[in-house]
Amino acid sequence: MPVMGFGLAADNVMITKGSTPLEHVKASVLAAIQVGYRAFDTASLYLTEGVLGESLKEAFEMGLVSRQEVFISSKLWGTDCYPQDVIPALRKSLEALKLEYLDSYLIHWPFALKKGTMYPFLTPDDVVAIDIEGVWRAMESCVELGLTRAIGVANFSIYKISNILAFAKIPPAVNQVEMHPVWQKKKLREYCKSVNIHVCAWSPLGGPGNSWGSNSTLDNPVVKEIAAKHAKTPAQVALRWGIEKGVTVITRSFNPVRISKNFQVFDWKLDEEDHQKINSITQESTDLVRNFFVNPINGPFKTVEEFWDDEL
Ligand SMILES: NC(=O)c1ccc[n+]([C@@H]2O[C@H](COP(=O)([O-])OP(=O)(O)OC[C@H]3O[C@@H](n4cnc5c(N)ncnc54)[C@H](OP(=O)(O)O)[C@@H]3O)[C@@H](O)[C@H]2O)c1
Repeated sequence: MPVMGFGLAADNVMITKGSTPLEHVKASVLAAIQVGYRAFDTASLYLTEGVLGESLKEAFEMGLVSRQEVFISSKLWGTDCYPQDVIPALRKSLEALKLEYLDSYLIHWPFALKKGTMYPFLTPDDVVAIDIEGVWRAMESCVELGLTRAIGVANFSIYKISNILAFAKIPPAVNQVEMHPVWQKKKLREYCKSVNIHVCAWSPLGGPGNSWGSNSTLDNPVVKEIAAKHAKTPAQVALRWGIEKGVTVITRSFNPVRISKNFQVFDWKLDEEDHQKINSITQESTDLVRNFFVNPINGPFKTVEEFWDDEL
């Protein structure tokens, strides 16, 4: 999997279905391909599978890249997190993407949602327990049917991954989690490495400007100091740090200058002192990791700590 990925989640696309014109999203994907991005991350939730599919079709026709040169990921949303719904959900994603297969298909979150619920208008009552063995068996069938080359998870704790590994015929290839200098996920990364699971970092810049993110990474004094030292931007430092930690960073920009600048992280390095300083940053996750799946009365996760199996 390429170490630099381009994400396709944005509030203004997901929530209002198009206040960011889809033409603008498409132009951003094509710009990203021209700059060198080869991994693209979407999900049925994001409502961007269709526009990514159109962009890829155009890129293939223009000869910018071939299907084999790009790595395309999508995700199974909670309302489809039921064993019988997994294969139809992936087929629907492939239809939207105009692709015959995905490179990776991930369980988006470790829970199911009651049928008919609509993000972001969820109540804690909408979150229900996932039949993980049944859902994983269906994910394995997706590989066997040739619908995806790899399967994986997102937002899974060490405990939840080890539970899958206990029965999986095909182990998860990827765990996609929030990760940036202000939320480093060291224990989870070490565990994933030990069981051969590749970590992908979502919000590698801390997600500034997103409802789920903040400026705490790009405004962090340590990140800014290191950026000044190397004559780089704070965003480049955050992305380079993730890559040097051995993960794939999935960043998102619909701004052509940033799309290009964010990719300029391959001809310089952080030094040992930079890493030590970043290691000492006080840790703080974004709101998404704290909130919407918790139901103290009767949900599968009564607290955030329970959701993360006391690994926070
Ligand atoms: N699995 C999950 O649960 C999950 C959750 C969240 C996200 N994701 C995936 O991860 C991807 C990235 O997430 P994210 O959007 O939170 O990541 P991010 O790259 O940390 O943040 C993107 C935000 O940063 C801004 N930005 C980009 N480059 C910048 C720069 N150089 N300086 C200042 N601001 C900059 C973008 O705005 P402009 O467009 O204006 O540049 C955008 O608002 C998503 O698109 C999605 O594919 C997965």
